[in-house]
Amino acid sequence: MEKLFNLENVRYQYNQFQQALVNVSFDIEKGEILSIIGSNGSGKSTLLHILAGLVFPTSGILKFENHEISESALNKKDFNAYFRQNVGYIFQHADAQLFCPTVLDEILFGPQQKLMKKEEAMDIAFSLMKMLNIEYLKDRPTYMLSGGEKKKVAIAAVLAVNPQVLIMDEPTSSLDPKTRSFIIELIFSLNEAGKTIILTSHNLEMISHFQSRVAVLSENHTIERIGMPEDVLNDTEFLIKNNLISEHMHKHGTHIHKHLPGSLFFHKHDRL
Ligand SMILES: Nc1ncnc2c1ncn2[C@@H]1O[C@H](COP(=O)(O)OP(=O)(O)OP(=O)(O)O)[C@@H](O)[C@H]1O
Ligand SMILES: [Mg+2]
Repeated sequence: MEKLFNLENVRYQYNQFQQALVNVSFDIEKGEILSIIGSNGSGKSTLLHILAGLVFPTSGILKFENHEISESALNKKDFNAYFRQNVGYIFQHADAQLFCPTVLDEILFGPQQKLMKKEEAMDIAFSLMKMLNIEYLKDRPTYMLSGGEKKKVAIAAVLAVNPQVLIMDEPTSSLDPKTRSFIIELIFSLNEAGKTIILTSHNLEMISHFQSRVAVLSENHTIERIGMPEDVLNDTEFLIKNNLISEHMHKHGTHIHKHLPGSLFFHKHDRL
């Protein structure tokens, strides 16, 4: 497998007191789906911001295709265009991403930046809207959309540039079951088409379906484990320790017992 990203001892601090990533070192391979999991505040979004070149490591090195990604590298126009064309980022909150007057303008923005011919850009925009079932939204202002609709528009806008890497921060959070399944299928088909996908999620069931590597960020902001789902997601003790699942303790009459998720509300007891 070819290395796409390489991180060496990456540390990120928002300020003197706020660590977000500590000594993070790993590689991301071309063509893989890498899922990053961890509790709230463990550093997932920060790690994605670094991979997308939106912020830069406080110390340590990030490379993309063997080129160091730093502020000075991205200040070079040609390198910036090459990196931005290749690496697409879909924000955790789509509001942070949408800024054009209408949905259609939003999807056309990337192709127009690439100086694509209007006709070609329109073809791409309409085929993406069709694929994502959002054609009916084309003239709507982006602030007049539901959360799930915004997410789909944000995905279409990024796909319009056809990047080889898609970085998606919690792509299925706050989506209804049908839209969630649709996005999961889309992730599979984009990956089959050769795209590298890096995503974060709190949904361990979805991640186990991908059957590809999972990286775990601990509450100390380090990579605690990286491996296939069977090596990471079957270790209950490890998952509880890293606040990825929780045990729930409760009482029925005089009987006190613990449950793992999935049996929280409705469960039977042989004897009370
Ligand atoms: N703009 C900021 N200024 C200061 N600290 C920040 C800022 N953004 C995030 N942090 C802190 O950095 C750490 C990592 O935050 P990050 O947003 O990367 O976590 P996360 O794993 O994505 O969490 P979540 O699951 O809630 O999205 C947290 O302790 C957070 O409080
Ligand atoms: Mg986050």
